[in-house]
Amino acid sequence: MARKIIIDTDPGQDDAVAILLALASPEIEVLGITAVAGNVPLPLTAKNARIVCELAGRIDVPIFAGCDAPMTRPLVTAEHVHGKTGLDGIELPDPDMPLQDSHAVDFIVETLRHEPSGSVTLCPIGPLTNIAAAFQRAPDVVERVEEIVLMGGAYFEVGNITPAAEFNIYVDPEAAEIVFKSGAALTVKPLDVTHKALTTRPRVEAFRALGTPVGHAVAAWTDFFERFDMEKYGSPGAPLHDPTVIAYLLIPDLFSGRHINVEIETGSDLTRGMTVADWWRVTDRAPNATFMGDIDADGFFALLTERLARL
Ligand code: BDR
Ligand code: CA
Repeated sequence: MARKIIIDTDPGQDDAVAILLALASPEIEVLGITAVAGNVPLPLTAKNARIVCELAGRIDVPIFAGCDAPMTRPLVTAEHVHGKTGLDGIELPDPDMPLQDSHAVDFIVETLRHEPSGSVTLCPIGPLTNIAAAFQRAPDVVERVEEIVLMGGAYFEVGNITPAAEFNIYVDPEAAEIVFKSGAALTVKPLDVTHKALTTRPRVEAFRALGTPVGHAVAAWTDFFERFDMEKYGSPGAPLHDPTVIAYLLIPDLFSGRHINVEIETGSDLTRGMTVADWWRVTDRAPNATFMGDIDADGFFALLTERLARL
């Protein structure tokens, strides 16, 4: 039976690739896509999610708009990485498929209440605002979650949007704190993992060589956003963060990590949004997350290319 997931997302080119990977994979049933403000403001993330589903020919997937700002702070966006639209790199048609009428947070709550307990996995690949709002509004749904597999945080790589914090956690640290303290089973793909899976030239050209609209779009998106990271890190390519979440559902053995305690810094201006991961187990704080540290990058890109070829 296919694994039921909700993708909570702020597309973003790498979010778009994560959505495509999920839609290409028969082992996964995407119950819905919930948009959140993050890389770009909510109207654009809600639009981009629809552009991506239409590109994949999947206008049947329900898409919901969610929170347009973090729980307590003004929104911070990342146009400097993703471009003005969030999906810069290729011009794609405006979507025809509609947004659903209900709010993303209502959809998350109702789905968790309606589906059998322990059968729905949440896949957040943007700021955690929608998920935290759902848990706050309906604490009964937390124990019904099968697993939360998210992209966010960093330990050895420390930060990308500030010296101390990764973007998704930094944008809404209060939401992240609620999720990390929720008690739900949590698997984290931090920068420590994603910075080990770079879009090198041969990997991007393999997408392009698919010769399909999807392959062409993924190559164009990666060409666009890798410029930023290559300049910043002096690396031969850019990390493709968000698809690691979906890849984990398909082949967990591509990843290794530790079940440890991870706390979120919400107080300090200097280190706000830091994921304080007890990797070396130097405290007696209870483990609350499986925090990944390594990835089989060749296996990850082989999976991605093979799956995208199906669309
Ligand atoms: C995360 O931030 C966003 O820019 C990406 O889409 C990814 O989810 C990486 O820090
Ligand atoms: Ca994202």
